Amino acid sequence: MRDITSRSYSVRTFLLRFPRRDTALIPMPTRFASVTIAALLLSAGAASAATVWDGVYSAAQADRGKAAFAASCAGCHGDDMTSMAEAPLSGQGFMDMWREDSLDAVFDKIRSSMPLNSASSVPDNTKLDVLAFILKSIDMPAGSKDLAADGLAAIQLVGKDGPKPLPTNSLTLTVGCLTGTGDNWSLTKATEPARARVSDATTPEEVKKSGTLAAGTQTFRLVNLEDARPNFKPADWQGHKVQLKGTLVRQRNGDRLTVGSIETLANTCQ
Ligand code: HEC
Repeated sequence: MRDITSRSYSVRTFLLRFPRRDTALIPMPTRFASVTIAALLLSAGAASAATVWDGVYSAAQADRGKAAFAASCAGCHGDDMTSMAEAPLSGQGFMDMWREDSLDAVFDKIRSSMPLNSASSVPDNTKLDVLAFILKSIDMPAGSKDLAADGLAAIQLVGKDGPKPLPTNSLTLTVGCLTGTGDNWSLTKATEPARARVSDATTPEEVKKSGTLAAGTQTFRLVNLEDARPNFKPADWQGHKVQLKGTLVRQRNGDRLTVGSIETLANTCQ
């Protein structure tokens, strides 16, 4: 496994992240502040998880958040929360960026880097209030208690009808069988792609969990597989069960994954 802190994330990486809709073809180390990945909601055990539909913030907290948003965030993100097209804080754009993940992913982003260039100017509690306001803006119901930092990891952000397949250009984690020859590789019997926030590195916890997942039914064409590890020869892992992280690109003629990292889980695959 590569140490994610040892990689250098340059201005180039930062700039490349802006035209997000166009970056899928570029084999770059895309990353967010958070290293959280979504629970594999679509594969198992999702029914009991708390979600943003369970009344996870209070109305008073959202009101405080509204004022804090106007004071500290609206200058860039706009009064309507969506005037920055690449960083929408409300509506479907926000949902597509953050759904099928736990609330601590979006909170980590705000806590570590917002307001841009002056993240420490706003206390964490106030940022939680802003997050409550964001939840209100996407019509999530209020409850009786404030949203608290230590509960965020257990709350999933999902739409009204529950988890849905991730949109194109999402960073994802998928498990399947490495299949192919020459320059032509696919992931077969793959699980539903789960949300990831980093695609060019993995953690021991992710690999352990991936090892327990049963095969799925999906197939993805793989792009940039050879760059996924130093001196990697895909043929060496032909037929292996692998964990693959990368950018999901939805296409009419078959979805593909631009590979960021690959780990072998077993040397056979069924
Ligand atoms: C000085 C301008 C500026 C201010 C002020 C600012 N932001 Fe941002 N924000 C940005 C920019 C630019 C991006 C996109 C680049 C990035 O993700 O780092 C962004 C991205 C984000 C994202 C990620 C959006 C996404 O979907 O990828 C979130 C969440 C966010 N901001 C929340 C906030 C909150 C909450 C505040 C107020 C506490 C705030 N921002 C204040 C400029 C700002």
